[in-house]
Amino acid sequence: METLVKPLSVENTPQPEAALEAKGLSKRYRLGGETIVALSGLELTVPKGQFLAVMGPSGSGKSTLLHLLGLLDSADAGSVEIAGQPTASLSDDALTMLRRDKLGFVFQSFELIPNLSARENILLPAEVAGRRANAEKTLVKLASALGIEERLTHRPAQLSGGQQQRVALARALINDPVVILADEPTGNLDSHTGEEVLALFGRGVREEGWTVVMVTHDPKAALHADRIVFLRDGKLVGETLTNGAEARSTIERFVGV
Ligand SMILES: Nc1ncnc2c1ncn2[C@@H]1O[C@H](COP(=O)(O)OP(=O)(O)O)[C@@H](O)[C@H]1O
Ligand SMILES: [Mg+2]
Repeated sequence: METLVKPLSVENTPQPEAALEAKGLSKRYRLGGETIVALSGLELTVPKGQFLAVMGPSGSGKSTLLHLLGLLDSADAGSVEIAGQPTASLSDDALTMLRRDKLGFVFQSFELIPNLSARENILLPAEVAGRRANAEKTLVKLASALGIEERLTHRPAQLSGGQQQRVALARALINDPVVILADEPTGNLDSHTGEEVLALFGRGVREEGWTVVMVTHDPKAALHADRIVFLRDGKLVGETLTNGAEARSTIERFVGV
């Protein structure tokens, strides 16, 4: 257990370090007698401080990729490194710790615990990590940055969708993760609220140095990112930076909108 602490502390050394690196990532599912190739030799490096969007048609492997990057599932071949730390040979306990300490997850359906207040939901990952005392300070900062200070005693059902997703984002950030992994984070929000949540991601990346990997099928959402990669049949088939004139035409070419 102790050995985990040391290699990870290199994270404070100078940039540019990769927050995430996937090498030759492959994943097959067996369903009945059939084998489905979900990812096929995928290569991806996400530098620290980048807001990356992952686009691609339904079934192209986006969620599978996010699950593997998030150490929620294991690859059949290839590897994932988080802040320079290889993960392939880690035990389940070590993976759990790495997930808890280095990764923050945001899902389309928020995944908040209904009978806990917003505040308790946000603090939960810190509590599990035995870091509640520090987290109280972080909570105050996050709640103010995300505009949910007045909502902390509410339960999820008493919050709007946008507020719930802000709470989920604060929960993802409470342990100061290396990367936030978000699967369609605006999928259950109306477009205005979705834009607000995306703007929060963008601001966090620019001003706080977050690294975000966001799966989306929505070109408008993807344009909030710094860089978009396109997945098809489990492979990266293209990418674009969003600050250039070609971003929209590249999205059109790969996503057909
Ligand atoms: N648990 C599973 N069992 C069997 N097949 C799966 C499973 N999860 C995903 N798949 C298949 O793998 C492929 C990629 O799925 P997924 O990563 O969910 O794609 P996306 O998120 O881009 O829609 C699809 O063909 C999907 O049907
Ligand atoms: Mg999906």
